[in-house]
Amino acid sequence: MRSIVAFACALMTSALLVTAPRAAEISLSCSALGLEHEICRAGADRWAQQSGHTVTLVSTPNSATERLALYQQLLAAGAGDIDVLQIDVVWPGLLGAHFIDLTPYAEGAASGQFETMIEANTIDGRLVAMPWFADAGVLYARQDLLDAYGREMPQTWQELSETAQYVQEREREAGNDDFWGYVWQGRAYEGLTTNAIEWIASHGGGTIVDQAGEITVSNEAAAQALGKAAGWVGTISPPGVLNYAEEEARGVFQSGNALFMRNWPYAWALAQADDSPIRGKVSIAPLPRGGEDGRHAAALGGQSLAVSRYSQHPQIAADLVIFLTSQEEQKRRAIEGSFNPTLPALYDDDEILASASFIGELSDVFANAVARPAAATGQDYSRVSNAFFNAVHGILSGEQEPGAGLQSLERELTRIKRRGWTQ
Ligand code: GLC
Repeated sequence: MRSIVAFACALMTSALLVTAPRAAEISLSCSALGLEHEICRAGADRWAQQSGHTVTLVSTPNSATERLALYQQLLAAGAGDIDVLQIDVVWPGLLGAHFIDLTPYAEGAASGQFETMIEANTIDGRLVAMPWFADAGVLYARQDLLDAYGREMPQTWQELSETAQYVQEREREAGNDDFWGYVWQGRAYEGLTTNAIEWIASHGGGTIVDQAGEITVSNEAAAQALGKAAGWVGTISPPGVLNYAEEEARGVFQSGNALFMRNWPYAWALAQADDSPIRGKVSIAPLPRGGEDGRHAAALGGQSLAVSRYSQHPQIAADLVIFLTSQEEQKRRAIEGSFNPTLPALYDDDEILASASFIGELSDVFANAVARPAAATGQDYSRVSNAFFNAVHGILSGEQEPGAGLQSLERELTRIKRRGWTQ
């Protein structure tokens, strides 16, 4: 009799185990630019409530370059510290081997995504991350000041620089000594790679390495573009711009001390927030063309979510990824944080367009954004980008002439490439 009871108890316990799996604690790294941390927290909490699991947010550095270094260190050691990682659109080739294939968990979720985004996150046939939001470089302008001084939104870099100079001088005469014409990201990090690729591509100077893997960076148009940008430092842009990342540029612009700013869409929700001194005074436009025959060029950015191979709970972690990248969550994030969705279906959603109309108006900018050469250079991408932003930083700070700087960069890239890029 006793053994029957014991058997029944054992059966019941195992049934309980099957029907009520222990709640897991999932750690999630999401970046913290502006409102990002808060908005990520709200999404994670919603999932935790409905799933019964808990989520701990892991803070990582704001700089994409520093975050990559941290991830590389953790993942190379096989550390399970982070279950779900927010990764940059240029990292799948670098980190993909450390992530699980999300295909079995996606249940069709991938088919609602932009195809190019899914391609960028597919390495050797494995879907290593699910797209979360899209980024493209855009020009923010103080529309109130353009109107007050009777100036148009600049179409070329030359026009931007003239208008910036003009308004800066007048604002300073009016007593605002801290006013600058143009702020952007000039620190030696991944953000500078995106800014500089925009200047160069808009002048017709290519994308450092072309799609076939040829190194193209040392050319006249690229030298011209970088020479122009070097001329901004200390004139229309503060000397400190050489140490600015996204948030430093936004700090100056949002406090009312700059006419133009180059940044990603996230800065819109913050500029328009209730406590923002520039609320209602800002407009967004495509970044300027190189010249009359140049093009508007926005660097393609964006972030995805991946599950670490070293996670103790890959299935639960994948469920969190599918939840956070779902249509409902992407819509909430677009409305609350102006994060561009990666789902085409949301691009004509009325509520999103009402809170961030540029998402619809600049759809061409996003569709034609310029990709960094991450796919062509594979495992070597971070070395290529590091060499590029360091060379550009040297040119901007006047240590090197553009032509000579690009020639030595080309030699360095040739050494990195050796007989071919590491795929
Ligand atoms: C943004 C973009 C990312 C880019 C980074 C550069 O986070 O989404 O693609 O690499 O900025 O700072």
